[in-house]
Amino acid sequence: MNKNPIDELTQEHGPIKVMLRVLEKMNEKISQGEDVSNTDLNNGIIFLKEFADKCHHGKEENLLFPMMKKNNIKKELELIDVLIAEHVVGRSCIKNMVTAIEMKSSDKAGFADLFVKNSEAYVKLLDQHIDKENLILFPEAKQSLSEEKLKELEAGFENVEKNIIGEGRHAELHKLIDELKRRYLSQRQGLKMKEPRFLILGLVSFAVGVLVMYIVEKYF
Ligand SMILES: [Fe+2]
Ligand SMILES: [Fe+2]
Repeated sequence: MNKNPIDELTQEHGPIKVMLRVLEKMNEKISQGEDVSNTDLNNGIIFLKEFADKCHHGKEENLLFPMMKKNNIKKELELIDVLIAEHVVGRSCIKNMVTAIEMKSSDKAGFADLFVKNSEAYVKLLDQHIDKENLILFPEAKQSLSEEKLKELEAGFENVEKNIIGEGRHAELHKLIDELKRRYLSQRQGLKMKEPRFLILGLVSFAVGVLVMYIVEKYF
């Protein structure tokens, strides 16, 4: 594999963002009293723990951030500390989401409250965290790391994929998020949600049109 390791991290933000949108849908359903299956909830947690945290945040925290810290550039050091602190907060949100799922069968209201609260906090945290990395830290990394350092990073990332995540697991996690995306973010579901709004808008436009025609005919 011969690609820029910073681009690899940027690309990994794609499926993580999909998971954030899935979480929003799950939160919406749970808040409306609809059931979200344990399988889907647990698959979401597996993705967050293995792909987002162990694989992606692991590459950042154990390889990219320490390498950038060695450059000793003040503004990078400050931002990296903020990003690491956000990874820690994200982990505690996931932990609380797991606790919520465990109490789902015995305390539905408690589950809904704890899950939605932490899931919403996680979505908000990660959306802005990803923006900081995409827009500030990663462009800095591309500028400040030498070709040699980028190669070293690439080798480190390959090692994470093979020996920490395991051969083939990355593809399995992609399948998992594709399935959640299909189930929660399908086109039809999106349209279904927007239909009432479109209908009201259509009716209002029609009524205004009729009124304008009436006024024009009567007074002009
Ligand atoms: Fe990060
Ligand atoms: Fe990231």
